[in-house]
Amino acid sequence: MKSKLISALLEPNLLKPYTIIMTKQAAKKRIAKLRQAINHHSYQYHVLDKPEISDAAWDSLKHELYQLEQVYPDLITPDSPTQRVSGQALDKFNKVRHRKRMLSLEDVFYLEEFKAWQERIQKLVPSEKLDYFAELKIDGFAIALVYKKGILVQGSTRGDSKVGEDVTLNLKTINSIPLKLEIHQKLPSDIAGKINALLNQGEIEIRGEIYMAQKVFAEINQQRKKQGLPLYANPRNTAAGSIRQLDPQVAASRQLDFLAYDLVTDLGQKTHQIKHQLIKALGFQVSLDQHCKNLDQAVKFWEEIKKKREKLPYQIDGIVVSVNNNRVFDKLGVVGKAPRGSVAFKFPAKEVTTIIEKIVVQVGRTGALTPVAYLKPVHLGGILITRATLHNADEIKRLDVRLGDTVIVQRAGDVIPDVVKVIKKLRTGREKKFNMPKTCPVCGGPVKRPQAEVVHRCVSKACRSIQKQQIVHFASRKGFGIEGLGPQIVNQLIDQGLIANAADLFSLSLGDLIPLEGFAEKAAQNLVKAIEQSKKISLAKFIFALGIRHVGEETSIALARYFGSLDKLAKTSLKELSRIEDVGEIVAKSIEQWFNNRKHHELIKRLINSGLEIKKLKPVKKKLLGSSFVLTGELDSLTREQAKTKIRQLGGDVPNSVSKNTDYLVLGQEPGSKYQKARKLGVKVIKEREFLSIIQ
Ligand code: IVH
Repeated sequence: MKSKLISALLEPNLLKPYTIIMTKQAAKKRIAKLRQAINHHSYQYHVLDKPEISDAAWDSLKHELYQLEQVYPDLITPDSPTQRVSGQALDKFNKVRHRKRMLSLEDVFYLEEFKAWQERIQKLVPSEKLDYFAELKIDGFAIALVYKKGILVQGSTRGDSKVGEDVTLNLKTINSIPLKLEIHQKLPSDIAGKINALLNQGEIEIRGEIYMAQKVFAEINQQRKKQGLPLYANPRNTAAGSIRQLDPQVAASRQLDFLAYDLVTDLGQKTHQIKHQLIKALGFQVSLDQHCKNLDQAVKFWEEIKKKREKLPYQIDGIVVSVNNNRVFDKLGVVGKAPRGSVAFKFPAKEVTTIIEKIVVQVGRTGALTPVAYLKPVHLGGILITRATLHNADEIKRLDVRLGDTVIVQRAGDVIPDVVKVIKKLRTGREKKFNMPKTCPVCGGPVKRPQAEVVHRCVSKACRSIQKQQIVHFASRKGFGIEGLGPQIVNQLIDQGLIANAADLFSLSLGDLIPLEGFAEKAAQNLVKAIEQSKKISLAKFIFALGIRHVGEETSIALARYFGSLDKLAKTSLKELSRIEDVGEIVAKSIEQWFNNRKHHELIKRLINSGLEIKKLKPVKKKLLGSSFVLTGELDSLTREQAKTKIRQLGGDVPNSVSKNTDYLVLGQEPGSKYQKARKLGVKVIKEREFLSIIQ
C-alpha cells in the first residue's frame, strides 16, 4: 500500500528534517489505539482527578493523533478527542448558553509548524500585511464573565464550547475578578462613551483563565502532606476542581486568581492590542504581552518567555500569537474548534511519547551491558532525540518495557533521556519482550551478572579495549577523519551506552551529546557536524577505517584501486588478493578472515545505510602506475604527505619500507636506515631534484 508523508519537521537547532511515514491501514489502527488511550487518560485526569501521565505526555499523544488525522482527514470522526473543545457541562450546575462559542486553539510545537501557520493564513488574505499580538498561554481553566450594567451577573465554564456550567458563586470568591466594572484609566472619548453606555444599560463580556499560583499550590500540598492526605497532581487540576464544586467555601479557601485575555463585547477595538488595553482599563490583570511587527518578533518573544518561564508566579505552557487586526482576524474565520487567526506556540516539553523501534545492548568500557532504546526520532526539550537509556535488566522488568511499545521519554535536567513509563493502552499485542543476551554482543564472550549487582557484564577484558580502539581508529585522520572525536570522547560515548561500534556514530544526534559531561552545546553541534561531513569518504579511507588487521593506509589504497567498490572487495578470494601488488599472503588471509565474519557484514550494511557517500577514485594517470617509491629523510620543497599524495595521484605506490620490489628510494635530508637497506638490495636511489622531475 502506498505510504504518505505525514510531516517533515525541522529541528530548530539543526534544521535536520525527519519524516514519519505510515500507510493508511496502519494509520487507521494507530488512530483507534490513540483515541482509546487519550480518552482513558482524559477520564483519569478530568473525572477521577488521578492523572496517570503528565500533561506533556498527554499532549504528545494528542499531537500524534492530530498529525495522523491531518494526513488522512477521512479518518476524522466527530468523537475523536481532537474534535472536542472541552468537557460536557455537569448536571449539578445550571447550564449557561454562551453568547459566542468559547473556542479552543490549534497547538504548534516547532518553529517550522509556527511558520507554516503564518504561511497558511497569509495565503488566505494575500493582500493584508499581517502584524501580531503575543501573550502568555496560561495553564489554567477557561471561564466567561458577563457583566450587566457593570455588575458581575454570570460566570461560566467553557463546557462543550456552546453550553457551560454556571459557577458564578465560586468565581465571586476570586479577588482578581471585579464584581463591579469601573474605568480605571483614561481612554479615548469615543470608547469611554461606549463603555459608559454599556455600564449603565448593556452587557460586557470578558473571558480569561482561572489559575492557582505555584506558591499557593505548593503550600496546599505541604499542608496535605502534613495531614497525611493524598497530594494534588498540578495547579491547573486543583484550580479546575475547586471551581467545579457546589460549595463556594472550597473555591474561597483556595486563593485562586484570574488573568483575562478576551473582550467579547465590541467596544470599537480595532486590534487585539487595544483589546488588552481595554481589559486592563476595566480593572483586570492580563499576562505579559507584546505587539509583534512580524513573525520573527513573535519568535523572539517566545524565546524570551521560555527563559523566564520558571520564574513566573503561574504555570504557562507556551504563548498565544494572534493576528492583531480584528477585521482580518474575523475574516480568517474558524476551522473546526479553533480560530485560524490565533495559534498556541507551545514550549518544548520535558516529556514526550514515542515508539521504541529497537533495543540495542551497548557494552561500556567496564564491560557493563546497557540496554538502550532506539526511538522513533522525537523532539524533547527543543532537540531531536533518537535514544534513551533503559539502564539494566531490572529496570526493563520494572517498566515492563517491550520492543514496539509507545513510551514516555523524559529528560530531567541535562542527562541522557530516560524511558519513564510504557503506555500499555497502546499495545497491539505484537510487542516483543526483551531479554539480556547471554553472550557479549561485541565480542561474543561470556556475560555474567555478579551477585548483588544489577548490571550484566562482559567479563572478557579484551573486548572493551578492542571496541574502543576500533572506534578511535575508525574516526582517525586516515579513516573517517572525524574531528573532535578523540579517545576520551569515545570513552564517554561508550560509557554512556551511546555507541558500541562505529556504525552507531552516525545516528548520534545533538540531543544524545549535549547531556554529556563537559559537552557544551557548541561542542556537540561541532561533533554532529563533523560526523555528518565525514559521510563523504573515499573508498580507500573507508577500507582503512574498517580496521582490518595488516591493512594500513597503503594497502587500503591498493585495494580501493584494484576493486573499485566495497562490494567487490567483500566478495574476493585469496587467489584474487594474491594478484595485487603489496598484498602478501598474511594480508590476504587477514582480509579474507575479516570478510568471513557475519558481524562485519552487518557493520558495513549499517554504515552504508547511514547515508555514506563513497567517493569514486579519480582516474589514475598512468605515468607512475606500477612504480613504487620509498621516502627517507626530509625533503626541501614538499612535506612527506604531499610527496606521497603526488606519487599516488600519478598511480605509484608508497610503501613504508624498502624491499626488492621497490623501484626508487627518494633520499631527503638526514636519511634513516632505509638508505642502507636500499643500497644493499640494489634499489635505485634518487635525490629530491630527480624525484621532482619524475613527478612533474
Ligand atoms: S485565546 C479562541 N489566550 O488555552 C480561543 N487562550 O488551548 C481563545 N488560554 O481555550 C483563546 N491562555 O483556555 C487565549 N492568553 C491566552 C490563553 C488562552 C490560556 C487557554 C484558553 C483556551 C486554551 C486553548
